[in-house]
Amino acid sequence: MIEHNVDLSASNTLGLACIAERVATPRCRAALSALVRDGHTGRGPLTLLSGGSNLILPERLPGLTLRPAMTQWWLEPRGNDAYVHVGAGVNWHGLVMALAERGWWGLENLALIPGHCGAAPVQNIGAYGVELADALESLTLMHLDDGRFQRLGVDECDFGYRESLFKTELDGRVVITDLTLRVSRAGRARLGYGDLASRLSPAPTPWQVAEAVCAVRREKLPDPAELGNAGSFFKNPVVDGSRAQALRQAHPDMPHFALAEGGVKLAAGWLIDQCGLKGWRSGHFGVHERQALVIVHHGGGSAQELLAVAAQVAARVRDRFDIELEREPRLAGMLDVDERASLA
Ligand code: EPU
Repeated sequence: MIEHNVDLSASNTLGLACIAERVATPRCRAALSALVRDGHTGRGPLTLLSGGSNLILPERLPGLTLRPAMTQWWLEPRGNDAYVHVGAGVNWHGLVMALAERGWWGLENLALIPGHCGAAPVQNIGAYGVELADALESLTLMHLDDGRFQRLGVDECDFGYRESLFKTELDGRVVITDLTLRVSRAGRARLGYGDLASRLSPAPTPWQVAEAVCAVRREKLPDPAELGNAGSFFKNPVVDGSRAQALRQAHPDMPHFALAEGGVKLAAGWLIDQCGLKGWRSGHFGVHERQALVIVHHGGGSAQELLAVAAQVAARVRDRFDIELEREPRLAGMLDVDERASLA
């Protein structure tokens, strides 16, 4: 069934006002296939909306908005390990906590990340030293041009830091319908990031790790139910070794992380914070007072205004550090064109 003129204001964590022209919410693969077969996906622009936690929506979203709503998941035990088969519409945090509660290791560091499972591979969600790619076995997707289903192994998804094939070659061409994740009873806690270890006893359970991750996130990150946001608004920039060295000489306390593949990852939040922008507000938007990497929406603002505020933040970092920040949330609808205008 296709709904018309649907209000998506409560369906995006930034809380941007948005009316979608047509919305389809397929609850199974057959319903998704039917949309392609009946020609609904071939008529004009198409937007994929999952949990709406990493998306910037325009006031009017033209064409068809597809909201995959396959909400089944089940475990396939294999000795000490198990495969978890998950529909794209399953709530990510709910799944993480359900598995941690049952004593399965694998996803606990990724607790409290908002959104649905189908979007997790797109930006290869990551937190506290773990990325989705570490736990993913394979996924199934449907090609929008001919309705063909395809299974991709984790090595075929071109995963990187907040990157995947679904942001590049397959962008706008496929819908992810299911994931298969790997979990284990014989896992161990991964507590190398930040102060996670200091919050836990020496041999924590998956549930205890997940709870500790939730506690850290709640301290730093605003709850979208209270204050609109899309998590980190910028990616952490990667610079080459000599540039990092020069910056460290000027700023000995600068957080930095050498990458195995070369280059040094810097903390965009720290860079923004150093520009004195923490808690800064401009119109309906601002920089979060506890985590400068998060742009918050105080209500009543538009996508254009948000992009202009983000451009101001990026300009301040560019002026001070000569580093380009790259936006993390994705743009929906015609915003690509509008963004160029607002940055011009
Ligand atoms: N920092 C500051 N000031 C700030 C923010 C950060 O000085 O306002 C410093 C922190 O003290 C720390 C460093 O910057 O030394 C890094 O900060 P933090 O550990 O909070 O992590 P992050 O780099 O800001 C990334 C992810 C988060 C993820 C955390 C934990 C990106 C873009 N963001 O943030 O992901 O939860 O690490 O792993 O990689 C998201 O993508 O939406 C998200 C929240």
